[in-house]
Amino acid sequence: MNLRIGDASAAERNKRPIFDALVTWLADARAVLEIGAGDATHARYARRRLPHVRWQTSEAPAHLRRLTAALVDGARDPRLPAPLALDVRGAWPAACFDAVFAANVAHIMSETAVAALFAGAGAHLNAHGLFCLYGPFFDADETPGEGNLGFDRALRARDPAMGVRARQALDALAADHGLVCAARLTMPSDNRLLIWRKADSPRR
Ligand SMILES: C[S@@+](CC[C@H](N)C(=O)[O-])C[C@H]1O[C@@H](n2cnc3c(N)ncnc32)[C@H](O)[C@@H]1O
Repeated sequence: MNLRIGDASAAERNKRPIFDALVTWLADARAVLEIGAGDATHARYARRRLPHVRWQTSEAPAHLRRLTAALVDGARDPRLPAPLALDVRGAWPAACFDAVFAANVAHIMSETAVAALFAGAGAHLNAHGLFCLYGPFFDADETPGEGNLGFDRALRARDPAMGVRARQALDALAADHGLVCAARLTMPSDNRLLIWRKADSPRR
């Protein structure tokens, strides 16, 4: 069974549809923070598809070494600076970004970490900045696909803190942190690219 947990071949497959969408949404972005960048598959592709963007990768400290090694050949490229150690539950960098991007992280993180992800994105986006979250999600307005149902069961069997998140719950977290839905894009293999925009006046 393919658990799609840290599956580098999945990132290879999904990078093109993700960036086919992001090239429009991030046309004016200059600084992007990627959370849980894994083996840098998306970051390296971003350099090609979004050459105007400084793509700051980050990873949970336990996985930072793999990410750093994956980016070593781009070490002199200012568009791909050295990765940051960033556990979303801890301190975030003292900077703001035009976008925060994360792929396949919400179902791996605990609910506490997912809440911290939204809090951090809300706090570290520039005005009108975008939070772009890719992955499998459930949606109360849609019949769940067998693939995502099975994936959710496999995740929870592995670790009860993991699980496919509900889009409505994420929208509620987003609202708590001044983020409003900008787009819900359907992607291959029953994945979604959810995009929230930082509102003018965060609701608090
Ligand atoms: C399934 S992998 C996805 C990696 C990559 N984004 C991709 O699409 O191939 C999930 C990633 O989330 C990261 N992660 C899990 N919990 C985290 C946390 N609390 N803070 C930051 N990253 C976390 C893991 O280290 C891992 O790299």
